[in-house]
Amino acid sequence: MPAELYLGLISGTSRDGVEAVLTRPEGPLGWEVIAHRRHPYPAAIAERLAEVIVAEQGRLQDLGQLDASVGEVFADAALALLRQAGLTPDAVRAIGSHGQTLYHAPAAAPAFSWQIGDPFRIAERTGIDTVALFRQRDMAAGGEGAPLACALHAACFAHPDISRAVVNIGGISNITWLRPGQPVSGYDCGPGNTLMDAWIRELTGQPFDADGAWAAAGKVRYGLLDTLRADPFLALDPPKTTGPEYFSLRWLEDRLATVGDIGRDVDVQATLTEFTASIIADAVLRERRPDEPCEVLVCGGGVHNLELMRRLRERLGDVPVAQTGSLGLPAEQVEAAAFAWLARQTLEHRAGNVPEVTGAAGPRILGCVIPGAAPQG
Ligand SMILES: Nc1ncnc2c1ncn2[C@@H]1O[C@H](COP(=O)(O)OP(=O)(O)OP(=O)(O)O)[C@@H](O)[C@H]1O
Ligand SMILES: [Mg+2]
Repeated sequence: MPAELYLGLISGTSRDGVEAVLTRPEGPLGWEVIAHRRHPYPAAIAERLAEVIVAEQGRLQDLGQLDASVGEVFADAALALLRQAGLTPDAVRAIGSHGQTLYHAPAAAPAFSWQIGDPFRIAERTGIDTVALFRQRDMAAGGEGAPLACALHAACFAHPDISRAVVNIGGISNITWLRPGQPVSGYDCGPGNTLMDAWIRELTGQPFDADGAWAAAGKVRYGLLDTLRADPFLALDPPKTTGPEYFSLRWLEDRLATVGDIGRDVDVQATLTEFTASIIADAVLRERRPDEPCEVLVCGGGVHNLELMRRLRERLGDVPVAQTGSLGLPAEQVEAAAFAWLARQTLEHRAGNVPEVTGAAGPRILGCVIPGAAPQG
């Protein structure tokens, strides 16, 4: 019997380490995770990534080496996950590796999205066919190259009677609308955790606001909130995507400088948390039809920020909010599961993008396949 497991790997825009999942096309949702592992970056690589991505510093040689080193970490993550699950590589039909985004520039001319994490090293170390570079084909076809998890959201979470908005709160937040009998739609709402992470890191050195406890101790400053909400990205029509290269600490500092009477303190964190909740709630409420049964399914690391979730629920009023985990796909595993799912699409010569979402000229087979097997003869 051919191997029916697919291994998904991603490190998201928060650079909080590689999420690795082993999946199979079974279970109530048609796609289930049977093992999961968070594989942190070694400190030296995490520092180099921060220099390159946040400070935009890096010589060509450094970038080349970082690509190779990140590829090794991804291979380590895949092998460690297999060991954890008590499996050998021959149980896995393919790996889908998203890599680590260095820069996402869908509005540049020409547009590009740059992921590192050399997939040849993953194929070499594991011996498993490895699918990678998922975003490039969609962009070559005129798309944003993102968000790509929408296709998995549709495959797993569409309901015959209820409209569902699937919201991923990663570094950036994105929404997928699943309406009975309607085409899938979706786009990036704007920042997810990225600004909250950047501010707490700047002030306290903590990588994120655990449980949102710090934000809960501050007061929302409405003048600043209005300034943040005036950003033109938020008013753009889809297709649209963005990244932390735009919604950065610099973006925040520029706006703080225009608002008088505000300290560099916890009130900014509270305001950023409210801002993030507000843009996600807007994305839901803008398109919610009053007559339709509707629910919101949240995933991504942001579900652990209790203050963010409290503010989101408050803004959503009577729209029920649940985590994807309640349906069987835990919040922090959805993105990695999507790239495992996309690897199968590619091997089966099926489309991975949703052109209505990305704006590409049509459905496309995403990525390239690097054979894992040794040559015959
Ligand atoms: N206990 C927690 N309390 C508050 N926030 C948390 C907690 N755990 C995780 N987070 C937030 O979740 C973030 C990581 O989320 P996730 O892994 O979904 O994002 P990502 O790696 O950037 O993915 P994406 O590619 O979707 O942007 C952290 O940076 C942090 O902000
Ligand atoms: Mg992550």
